[in-house]
Amino acid sequence: MKITVPLILKKKQNKEKITMLTCYDYSMALLLDRAGVDMLLVGDSVGVVFSGYENTLPVTFDEILYHTKAVVRGRKNSLVVADMPFLSYQVSIEDAIKNCGLMIKAGAEAVKLEGGVEVCEVVYKLFQSGIPVVGHIGLTPQSVNILGGYRVQGKTDAAKKKLIDSAKALESAGAFCIVLECVPEEVAKEITEELTIPTIGIGAGRYTDGQVLVINDILGLFEGFRPKFVKRYVDLAPVIEKAAKDYINDVKEGLFPADENVFK
Ligand code: KIV
Repeated sequence: MKITVPLILKKKQNKEKITMLTCYDYSMALLLDRAGVDMLLVGDSVGVVFSGYENTLPVTFDEILYHTKAVVRGRKNSLVVADMPFLSYQVSIEDAIKNCGLMIKAGAEAVKLEGGVEVCEVVYKLFQSGIPVVGHIGLTPQSVNILGGYRVQGKTDAAKKKLIDSAKALESAGAFCIVLECVPEEVAKEITEELTIPTIGIGAGRYTDGQVLVINDILGLFEGFRPKFVKRYVDLAPVIEKAAKDYINDVKEGLFPADENVFK
């Protein structure tokens, strides 16, 4: 069944968990869609796990657009969310609407913006323009230089209140779901109970309405670092390395191409 924004909202009402994975290319989109993932996030994490940048800040609008188009071509039922990169929605409301609108024109069905109360005006204008928005609060990697590193957020009473206020403000502005990244489980639970829109957790514990992880992390393809909240479902890095070594060996030994690989 095609996943739509109303269906995502309904899943919360029906207490049905929502699944999201990041996805950056056509082949992976085919597989993840076939597996039945509700939402494919063309995350700006592509900059780290695909492009090899140190963080997500260098990722450009054109890079996300390119990957969004590839993912859209591969998905049938999953809802595609384009992650708006740093500086693509902060400069002006007009700029934000134009950039988010171009993602929608490319086939994304929603966009994700990082930030709380400070992005609510943009979120409201996007909502009014017919562009579904996923909020993102807690650890917001595009603000790493203000946060001073990748740490759990919302640990003090003041920080917790700020998160709850931001979540409510995003809901009022028209966001249809909110990613909660790296927040204590109890804080995520409280936010989830306060909202009518779904929360999607990453490092936010067990009580959010859904979960999101980076695809390279669950497949064991990214060996850079492994946060506590990641579950590795398969360890593909050594499998790929072995396949490459076997290929090199076969070529050197004259075992590949074999008879069945040759045109006659
Ligand atoms: O870019 C990304 O992968 C994300 C997820 C971590 C939510 O924003």
